[in-house]
Amino acid sequence: MANHKLWGGRFEASLEGWVEEFGASIGFDYRLAPYDLKGSLAHVQMLGETGIIDADEAQTIQAGLTQLLEEYEAGQISFDVINEDIHMNMEALLTEKIGPVAGKLHTARSRNDQVATDMHLYLKDQLQQIGGKLLHLRQVLLDLAEEHVETVMPGYTHLQHAQPISFAHHLLAYYHMFSRDSQRLAFNLQHTDLSPLGAAALAGTTFPINRERTAELMGFEGIYHNSLDAVSDRDFILEFLSNSSILIMHLSRFCEELINWCSYEYGFVSLSDTFSTGSSIMPQKKNPDMAELIRGKSGRVYGHLISLLTVMKSLPLAYNKDLQEDKEGMFDTVDTIQKSLDIMAGMLASMTVNSQRMLASTQQDFSNATELADYLAKKGLPFREAHEVVGKLVLECSKSDIYLQDIPLERYQEVSVLIEPDIYQALESHIAVQRRNSLGGTGFEQIRLELDRARQELQS
Ligand code: ARG
Repeated sequence: MANHKLWGGRFEASLEGWVEEFGASIGFDYRLAPYDLKGSLAHVQMLGETGIIDADEAQTIQAGLTQLLEEYEAGQISFDVINEDIHMNMEALLTEKIGPVAGKLHTARSRNDQVATDMHLYLKDQLQQIGGKLLHLRQVLLDLAEEHVETVMPGYTHLQHAQPISFAHHLLAYYHMFSRDSQRLAFNLQHTDLSPLGAAALAGTTFPINRERTAELMGFEGIYHNSLDAVSDRDFILEFLSNSSILIMHLSRFCEELINWCSYEYGFVSLSDTFSTGSSIMPQKKNPDMAELIRGKSGRVYGHLISLLTVMKSLPLAYNKDLQEDKEGMFDTVDTIQKSLDIMAGMLASMTVNSQRMLASTQQDFSNATELADYLAKKGLPFREAHEVVGKLVLECSKSDIYLQDIPLERYQEVSVLIEPDIYQALESHIAVQRRNSLGGTGFEQIRLELDRARQELQS
């Protein structure tokens, strides 16, 4: 019968084409093809080893699957929506190749444990790749930070100049966020490194299968210990989507800063031509499109997280077709994160930093006001009083359009006899940064220690 389904036995009428299309997942789950084959190879080997099927039949099936894998890698396979999903497409292709013995592959297996297995294999692979890209980004950040330990820039709170800091300190803040992202993904990997295969439809099987063996053959660290959980769990994907949301939030925040920094008003950095675009009307424009896109793409990643959470929230155990909706968001998140990490690393490695401009913008501001207050406090004035004195001086300066470093010594000494000529040195932003040498602070010495620690962390 044409268009006979693998599950067609109990049906008298077949689906209409448009209904079939609504139910099909092959349009996107084709991406699971190599993982589906890998899972089937392990399954059939175990079926042969345990005597559930004859050894020679197992060999025939294995040979057919291996050939399919080669053809897939050579781009020679095409799929058909009539076969609904990747699992049934593969079985149909295998049947074409080796005949009815292909039908023995699905012994002691269901598409429910099969799809879960494919998803675990896929995500495990992607998590490892993403981990590698994240590592590279962290390396780029360390290299850049190393060049800019003594590059002084304004530190902000409320987007107002607050206190001067080292540019390396700012970069290392992101380094640490990305380190935590790496740790979260590594934990995610542990939850993904489990084999659901052998859970069958939901309840396990009457065949004497060996789940540990298939797990070992597929390279999984462990197995799911409850068959219902094995086919119903998608937390490993939710974890991935939530870790990715945090990661892209970090990327987006950083991009926002780069976008600000390369504006005319800041002029702190200039992105390389290879990561910038022009305008179709304004000839002078050089736009930070790539950074804006990463910022923009955070929206779709958050969306995929909310979307799968919503899909899952009321699903009774065990498998429900709703679960087919777990895939597109995950694939899109994988693509988005991988590309964003590559772009971010490339953008940072190739940008030009305008250290002069950064320094200059700490010399025409009041970001040294804390320095003066600390100076007075160190000479015994209670910090609250020092704060008040300096606040009044800032007000006075802003009325006459000068800065603290412009106030003549006589005026300082009228305000407080504690202020001596060494105040001018204390007000220099480079000195201010250097002196903030408390643990984890922006002082150059601290940053050098932090860089050493981070380098060691990356090596291990
Ligand atoms: N395409 C399905 C999915 O992605 C495979 C599992 C189908 N299982 C079933 N019982 N209909 O979820």
